Amino acid sequence: MNLAQFLAELDALLAEARSAFAAATDAAALEGARIEFLGAAKGRLKTVQKWLGAVAREDKPAAGKRFNEVKTDVEAAFAAAQERVASQGATQKSGSQLDLTLPGTRLRLGRLHPLTQTIEELKDIMGRLGFSPADGPEVEDEWHNFEALNIPPEHPARDPLENFYLAVAQASGRHEPGGNPTRTQPLIDREAHASRSPLLLRSQTSTVQIRVMEHQQPPVRVISLGRVYRPDEADATHYPMFHQMEGLLIDRQVTMADLKSVLRMFATSYLGEDVHVRFRPSFFPFTEPSVEADMHWHDRWIEFGGAGMVDPNVLQAIGYDPEVYSGFAFGLGIERLCMRRHGITDIREFYRNDVRFLEQF
Ligand code: DAH
Repeated sequence: MNLAQFLAELDALLAEARSAFAAATDAAALEGARIEFLGAAKGRLKTVQKWLGAVAREDKPAAGKRFNEVKTDVEAAFAAAQERVASQGATQKSGSQLDLTLPGTRLRLGRLHPLTQTIEELKDIMGRLGFSPADGPEVEDEWHNFEALNIPPEHPARDPLENFYLAVAQASGRHEPGGNPTRTQPLIDREAHASRSPLLLRSQTSTVQIRVMEHQQPPVRVISLGRVYRPDEADATHYPMFHQMEGLLIDRQVTMADLKSVLRMFATSYLGEDVHVRFRPSFFPFTEPSVEADMHWHDRWIEFGGAGMVDPNVLQAIGYDPEVYSGFAFGLGIERLCMRRHGITDIREFYRNDVRFLEQF
């Protein structure tokens, strides 16, 4: 190997080593380049050093001097790259804390469940029509869920297979939720009755009609929104727990025209368009006459729920005089209303707790 070749090799090695060190963006890449050029056993600098022996004797001092210069330069290039990589890492780390130009970490805002939102809105609409919200317990006795509502023992709605009866020890003198002394004389001794009555998860919010009338003299103008329970198989339109809105208005000379007006105003407010309401004859033990109410929306008749004039037997059961007072009641499914308005096709979505569904509301 002549001197010119040797020097050319050294120049090439220096150039390649510099660009390899400059290109290394992290410690691992830099270490790879270090081994390639400065490696103690097989580094390229080591290889070139071996070629020194093949250089002619008289050229050795010049070759050796240049070799040492190049070695120093390669080592310097490595040291510089090492420093650069180390300081870059540090900037990246501290930058993640200190770079004020980065967007902030977004707070994930929670929101109300679509059914809760619906309930709030229904309360708001009915509130403007003069109805105040009333609550009742979800664990009920048969008096409030059936008997006071004129549903006799042989009625199919009382079938144990249609209800969630609770198996509980019957404590004597069982406390009655919401008990209040300011009520008129009922026809049946409810205290005695309730202590013997089995308990069940209420199957309808109509129970609250009774609870309100027990504690209040007419006029009555309430709504009650809450959960009801029925042992139904879950499918796209059924779920063993769902929500109802019950309405009750008792006063002198209340007619079905009042009922229809209230339902129509309600539907128009909720759906945002002029919604027509129609009545189809039906039967409920606690109303007479009873109707199924439908609403006409987007060119379709949609079932709204049940309604009717409160049956005189119900008024009598809680101690109102049916010769003086009359009223209407209605009960509708809240899920169904919410599903209609938002185009939801499967009731089970409400209860899956999938944030991708819930965050759309
Ligand atoms: N409670 C009935 C049900 O769950 C719905 C209903 C019908 C409620 C007629 C009423 C009514 O207040 O008047 O199927």
